[in-house]
Amino acid sequence: MGPGPSDVHPRVLRAMSTPLVGHLDPSFIEIMDEVQELMRYTFRTDNQWTIPVSGTGSASMEAAIGNLVEPGDTVLVPTNGYFGGRMESMAERAGGSVVHVDAPWGKPLAPADVQDAFDEHQPDVFGFVHAETSTGVKQPNVPELTSIAHDHDAYVVADCVTSLGGVELEVDDWGIDVAYSGPQKCLSCPPGASPLTLNDRAMDKVLSREEEPRSWYLDLSLLEGYWGDDRSYHHTAPITNVYAIREALRLVAEEGIESRWERHRRVAGALKAGVEAMGLGLNPEDEYWLPSLNAVLVPGGVDAGAAIDYVLDHYDLEIAGGLGALAGDIFRIGCMGYAAQPENVAFLMTALGEALEAQDVDVDVDAGFAAMRERLHQ
Ligand SMILES: Cc1ncc(COP(=O)(O)O)c(C=O)c1O
Repeated sequence: MGPGPSDVHPRVLRAMSTPLVGHLDPSFIEIMDEVQELMRYTFRTDNQWTIPVSGTGSASMEAAIGNLVEPGDTVLVPTNGYFGGRMESMAERAGGSVVHVDAPWGKPLAPADVQDAFDEHQPDVFGFVHAETSTGVKQPNVPELTSIAHDHDAYVVADCVTSLGGVELEVDDWGIDVAYSGPQKCLSCPPGASPLTLNDRAMDKVLSREEEPRSWYLDLSLLEGYWGDDRSYHHTAPITNVYAIREALRLVAEEGIESRWERHRRVAGALKAGVEAMGLGLNPEDEYWLPSLNAVLVPGGVDAGAAIDYVLDHYDLEIAGGLGALAGDIFRIGCMGYAAQPENVAFLMTALGEALEAQDVDVDVDAGFAAMRERLHQ
């Protein structure tokens, strides 16, 4: 129950023991088609350009930024978390000139600030993090942000690593031009093949670049040969990871994407109600709460690292601490995919409650359980 990788569904683990075929085998090409279709369903998009990028979430992130950003482009990135910083590094390496829209760690971007940044800098590309894993904040008002960008003819890139398959995300309806994710969070799949989708407008920019992207491996104009109509060799696909993500995405479709969002809201809502009734607080305001990653405030005087170690040593349960500006201030507790189950919430509350009691914190675990059960039965 840390920030990912999350528990992998047994069906996905089983799929990974499927014997290998070649990456151009006719049966594998059918699997590729199925993966792309299921990925469109999960992203809520009709984008033709929807593929799993070989590599972890940072590979799909770099494929998005490294192809869309051309040397000399102005790129607007957020300052409200760790992964906005990674966007900045990638945009700079792509030759972009980076400007910022500011918000503190633990807060979302305000549309008025995005508007001001657009008026001041006229960026070509705007990146934001839909689900900031470092702070537990879900960015609200996404359609408002994308329409500001489109009024300025800019392209929008959304980091959906911790939202895809767990938290409401509507790529087409919200006007997101490029979205990327990772498989190891709410899809409950091992890292290795990472979802990416681009609409035609974004792909037109990519395909009409004057200068080739700096990465050969992630060059979408070349990857098009493999994932587009030709199905010709570019690099050897990570076959086993493609089997895995197909199974993970099938599980999403079987559950239904909206039911899956609702399960995350309900189960993580029980976690949130439970820890609050125990006497703990959550960092983000309710409006920005991210069900897949719960940022629980560390009570005053508590050594967060010791509590995390206690939970791991005594319960074999993984949770994480804060990063950067929030180091030592929050516990990061994931509630993702297959792990988003009531029994895990009960287990977490027992373990965390005991870890805090071991440091003489007065927590009311019984009240936490009552609140958790009430929320689960609502
Ligand atoms: C919001 C966000 N973006 C990007 C990444 C990078 O993904 P990876 O670590 O799989 O390369 C992560 C990983 O945790 C993330 O949480």
